[in-house]
Amino acid sequence: MKKRLISANWKMHKTIGETEEFLRIFLKSVSLKDDREVLICPPFTSLQTASQILKNSEVRLGAQNCHWEKKGAFTGEISPVMLKDLGCDYVIIGHSERRHIFGEEDEVINRKLISALEEGLRPILCVGEKIEDREAGMTEKVVETQLRLGLSRLEDHIDSIDIAYEPVWAIGTGVPATPEDAVNVHRFINEVLDRLNPSRKRETRVLYGGSVKPENAGEFMKREEIEGLLVGGASLDPESFAKIVESF
Ligand code: PGA
Repeated sequence: MKKRLISANWKMHKTIGETEEFLRIFLKSVSLKDDREVLICPPFTSLQTASQILKNSEVRLGAQNCHWEKKGAFTGEISPVMLKDLGCDYVIIGHSERRHIFGEEDEVINRKLISALEEGLRPILCVGEKIEDREAGMTEKVVETQLRLGLSRLEDHIDSIDIAYEPVWAIGTGVPATPEDAVNVHRFINEVLDRLNPSRKRETRVLYGGSVKPENAGEFMKREEIEGLLVGGASLDPESFAKIVESF
């Protein structure tokens, strides 16, 4: 049985002091069970502190992005080697804010995935359609393209990657997808992954993200197709994130 994955994506929030305070309260309030993995993805500047605090706990550490090269003249960038060195196990790749604010394209996302895997990080590849795609009936087309291009040359490594389905219109808006809508896209994602690699072991978890809160997390997690959550805003408060972790 795969462990489900409940992840916090803090985006550009929390100083080192705020990170320490969050983790102190969170580790005290949360009760962790064997059937789920809990992941915190703080900003780069808090990784070292979080890594120290989490090293004797079951909570895993991840980054929100990385560069595709191991080192070099790339001012302002962070490589997967550096993330591994800090104690990260995971890295989020291709988040919609990276795609739509910073112009990251599928080809770059693919290079980042390759590099992260080479360093032994487990990537979480984010996919999802914009509202205009959904209204035009293009959700499956957009998601399939993001998967095919993102996973190009990685077909044999699909089991080492998790996918987060995050409809862009649901991120940070307070308007989540319905569990039914999410389930339909999650099934479709699994079909595409099966086509890309019919002999995969189905170790990939397909997470849902977009306006997840303590009040709705349980509804998503009731559905077997939803194998985890990627939580932004509601992961910034330790008690709220603990409730989400314990919502199923
Ligand atoms: P949200 O963000 O929970 O604030 O909608 C989710 C995400 O962007 O990963």
